[in-house]
Amino acid sequence: MQRLKSADLYRRAENHIPGGVHSNTRARAPHPIYFERAEGAYLYDVDSNRYLDFVLGNGAIILGHGHPKVQSAVRAVLTAGITTGSETRLGVEAAELLLQQVPTAEMVRFANSGTEAVMHALELARSATGRTRVAKVEGAYHGWDSQMYVSAWPDLQQAGPPDAPQPVLTHSGADAETSRRTLVLPFNDIAATRRLIEEHKDELAAVIIEPVMMDIGFIEATPGYIAELRALTARHGIVLVFDELLTGFRVAPGGAQEYYDVTPDLSTFGKAIANGYQVAAVAGRREIMEQARPGGPCAWVGTFNGHAVSMAAMVATLREFESGEVWRQLQERTSYLEQQFSLRAAERSIEAVLRGRGGNFHWYFTGRPVQDYRTAAQSSADLYGTFAATAIEHGLWLAPGTLSHHSLTIAHEQEHLDAFVACL
Ligand SMILES: Cc1ncc(COP(=O)(O)O)c(C=O)c1O
Repeated sequence: MQRLKSADLYRRAENHIPGGVHSNTRARAPHPIYFERAEGAYLYDVDSNRYLDFVLGNGAIILGHGHPKVQSAVRAVLTAGITTGSETRLGVEAAELLLQQVPTAEMVRFANSGTEAVMHALELARSATGRTRVAKVEGAYHGWDSQMYVSAWPDLQQAGPPDAPQPVLTHSGADAETSRRTLVLPFNDIAATRRLIEEHKDELAAVIIEPVMMDIGFIEATPGYIAELRALTARHGIVLVFDELLTGFRVAPGGAQEYYDVTPDLSTFGKAIANGYQVAAVAGRREIMEQARPGGPCAWVGTFNGHAVSMAAMVATLREFESGEVWRQLQERTSYLEQQFSLRAAERSIEAVLRGRGGNFHWYFTGRPVQDYRTAAQSSADLYGTFAATAIEHGLWLAPGTLSHHSLTIAHEQEHLDAFVACL
């Protein structure tokens, strides 16, 4: 594939934009690829190369690029001329639709990104409990705020013992003092998690968890682990937050809380809720959400919150979810992919496993069970690199990192899934 125009844009960009990208995960060797159009399951770059997209805006596209109903809802708002800074009917409808589909939540508020939604959830938790520290799982990503961007993809040389993980700073721009105060929990290790939470119970405002670790692929919590977290946090008055940025509307129509049948105090949503338009949400218990009411103890403001374009996209997207058909189709496609991948791996005697649900998936090159960050980190980076290089040469768009995540949309047909499996 020729990528001359991308190379040229990169030469221009690197003078003005660090690394030529506005988000570091978009960097690619030898240079980023610049896109100009997308439709259904495909992305088109500036050199007119077509890619079958499995990155899908880091999981933000669920109905396919440029879904006609979402685009038409957005066009209607553009015609009306309203953008931001005021409340709209669409903002009310979007809230109602989200709460119908996540029935465990009583109230919701919108922000603009997952990072922001997580920060708001933790602020609400601090406000409701009067405590300051938070706990997160080793290897989980909850956005780039200093309190959360710690022990995300940590270097295992610095990470301490498996049953007492140490906070590993992710970058030098973080407020190190804040990052070091984050308590790091080992995923799926019930005894160690119980001990760590109990040791710090009087300081913890919140425990936040991605109940299926999708940011490092697809690792399910054992039902016992999630149930124990719920029981422990309830017993000690700690706010339990489910980060459902990726699991929401994917692992089950009502998210991980439906899948595990466990009600968190708060949850964060984003990505798929507006099919690629920019919005995220915090939803949860009324008494905690009410902390943010005007004049209440916890501030929550933002120029672009409830942006009319995003609200229109969200209403149109959530309406598509209502019948359950979108989820059913995504789940059917994911199961097919899982089966075909496993057959191909066996045929070729490659130790590899693909896991997924409801349209999010990832694969690991290892023969050992993957149950947390440390076991996922054993997946072969070389084999992943070879797979990704084959895929890009066949016009498939994948995430570059071994521990990342991939998605499907309802625009992905069986032949698309077969093309993916053929890269193994
Ligand atoms: C589980 C999870 N939480 C939070 C975030 C942060 O979201 P955003 O990139 O919208 O700030 C992400 C994004 O990748 C995520 O996957």
